[in-house]
Amino acid sequence: MQRHATSSIRTIGITTGGGDCPGLNAVIRAVVRAAIRGHGWRVLGIRDGFDGLLHPEQSRWLSLDDVRDILPRGGTILGTTNRGNPFSYPVEDDGIPGARDLSDRVIENARTLGLDALVVVGGDGTQRIGLRLHEKGLPVVGVPKTIDNDLAATDSTFGFDSALHVASEAVDRLHTTAESHRRIMLLEVMGRDAGWIALHAGLAGGAHAILLPEIPFSIERLCDFITHRDSRKKSYTLIVVAEGVRLPAELQPAGSTRAGAVSNLIGDAIAQRTRREVRVTVLGHTQRGGSPSPFDRVLSTRFGVAAVNMLATGQLGYMAALRGAEVVPVSLHEACSSMKFVDPHGELVQTARTIGICFGD
Ligand code: F6P
Repeated sequence: MQRHATSSIRTIGITTGGGDCPGLNAVIRAVVRAAIRGHGWRVLGIRDGFDGLLHPEQSRWLSLDDVRDILPRGGTILGTTNRGNPFSYPVEDDGIPGARDLSDRVIENARTLGLDALVVVGGDGTQRIGLRLHEKGLPVVGVPKTIDNDLAATDSTFGFDSALHVASEAVDRLHTTAESHRRIMLLEVMGRDAGWIALHAGLAGGAHAILLPEIPFSIERLCDFITHRDSRKKSYTLIVVAEGVRLPAELQPAGSTRAGAVSNLIGDAIAQRTRREVRVTVLGHTQRGGSPSPFDRVLSTRFGVAAVNMLATGQLGYMAALRGAEVVPVSLHEACSSMKFVDPHGELVQTARTIGICFGD
């Protein structure tokens, strides 16, 4: 057993916040194994993100047995929520919805539970809450998670690669049916305001067009591209649409748009203008479910071990990040300060353009 000279830490908590993604269980397993085997610490599993610190009775000690066999399992054994910000917690007063700052109660409960520190596994929103709790006196280290891959502080978040496998396979599958029916097929993928999943899945799956939040598109140019393909007897077209794409003014609906709405609006506009048969697939939460890819299993394990090492060496208020080939600590301040978006003039987009992929601009 490997033992380091450690800080005063004896008991840590771990919580998973925000939307789930493949690899969360792999992080939990790595943290529990590194903490118990490497340091003899106790690890408390906090349920449902920060909600679990408002309901501490739901927490449970995690043993090596509890994390056996969870490496390949999707989701999170701790549960999660993307609604429970303790600094602005949703409450109802006389039936009127409002928000209350319950962060003091979180800190108090963490003390009552005997937590010396908390490992916070989550995306930008979760890390921001972690930073605020750290500043209020609960030592935190972060582990970056999200299929969107939109945290600037790390080259990659775990979950992205697994989501990409699902999205790329979907593009592959759409090729054969699109070609058989000579249809225009749109595939809407997740990613929030960042186009990483769309760009990578489009490149990996050989899409003909990719619509990104970072590159404004015109429906006319997109339709010209489709018509031009038709004139060259390439009578099917596959378009990957990022859910966060900005619709041109003429396609903007009156109200807010739900998942799937953007690609359906774009699909309808293409059908109207080209008089071609169009079909839309919205991949949705299939991108977040299921087993993590080998890359994500390894990255999650590295992040989990790095988080424990950071605690042991007193690097509190830091987040594990992948920089090149190394996992390094970056301050939560830095980690929360900027998001990562596709560079419209960057090498990836240029590569796609060079091989003939249309961005509708
Ligand atoms: O941030 C991860 C993500 O999957 C986004 O890509 C997507 O927009 C969002 O979460 C969906 O959230 P929900 O699970 O609340 O529908």
